[in-house]
Amino acid sequence: MKQIILTGDRPTGRLHVGHYVGSLKERVKLQNSGRFDEIYIMIADAQALTDNAEHPEKVRQNIMQVALDYLACGIDPEKSTIFVQSMVPELTELTFYYMNLVTVSRVQRNPTVKAEIQQRNFEASIPVGFFWYPISQAADITAFRATAVPVGEDQLPMLEQCKEIVHKFNAVYGETLTEPEIILPDNAACLRLPGIDGKAKMSKSLGNCIYLSDTPEDIKKKIMSMFTDPNHLRVEDPGTVEGNPVFIYLDAFCRSAHFTEFWPDYSGLEELKDHDRRGGLGDVKVKRFLNNVMQAELAPIRERRQQWEKRLPELYELLEAGCKVARAKAAETLNDVRHAMKIDYFVDNNLLK
Ligand code: TRP
Repeated sequence: MKQIILTGDRPTGRLHVGHYVGSLKERVKLQNSGRFDEIYIMIADAQALTDNAEHPEKVRQNIMQVALDYLACGIDPEKSTIFVQSMVPELTELTFYYMNLVTVSRVQRNPTVKAEIQQRNFEASIPVGFFWYPISQAADITAFRATAVPVGEDQLPMLEQCKEIVHKFNAVYGETLTEPEIILPDNAACLRLPGIDGKAKMSKSLGNCIYLSDTPEDIKKKIMSMFTDPNHLRVEDPGTVEGNPVFIYLDAFCRSAHFTEFWPDYSGLEELKDHDRRGGLGDVKVKRFLNNVMQAELAPIRERRQQWEKRLPELYELLEAGCKVARAKAAETLNDVRHAMKIDYFVDNNLLK
């Protein structure tokens, strides 16, 4: 069986370091592993519109921004097809058929949808399109016959729902769809990078993000203002490492080479953590180190982004070509689906018999 990746992001803003460690870094690793026959990276504009119906310009503006962020992180257009969701209308048709295989109460139980409804204060005014986006996401994944879906941990319930739809479809109409596997980063700190304010999630609306396109000065300012351990008042006091965003970021970003380069007083992160627990380690020093680590990680990403910013017409063509490739692939699956459902009326004369 072909090994195929499908994944994507909603273009509601530029991508941030939470996206990077939570999923983008993993995608690049998988892309370069040579284990995959086809890789599709989708800019999920139609899904973004499910809760931004009144702000199409916001979604539109972020198409190129997200594409730039992808290329900046090392997504290689020679190996991966980047495309825009709404340019593949086959996905909408698949969604329409899958909708019949899912109950309203099943969608209501989806923990990610539940959390998002709360976050957005939708309560009684949930747009219908938003409510069923997990079903449309199953269409995205299955249209490309994806075997692997590298995403952030918050997408687990979407993958569960997708697998259920695959099983149900195959049981009712015969073996047609491919079951995908979710791929999460193995570093626990990467799964849920908190915001710089210590809040559970990095989110544009909370203003607690470090963006991949931030300037070195912005990054430094944000890191130096980061929330740490509120009980660590004096340098001599023992600190708490667990749940302290500065240490979570170090867990996510720091490698032993960073100590050799920037802070040879310590052999590695464990020794630094021990010192913090004992007391006598000032937050500012740790933040300065974190700043060095993140500047080193983000500089090549920013440089690649700046290179691509000078080649926007090329990027535009790349996206347009990607949409064509993606559409052809989704159309094949849609043909199989119609055949399995016996609604491919005019491919032969069967309707006459
Ligand atoms: N839900 C994803 C996000 O919020 C975007 C997305 C849409 C997606 N369809 C997908 C991700 C299919 C993986 C597979 O970022």
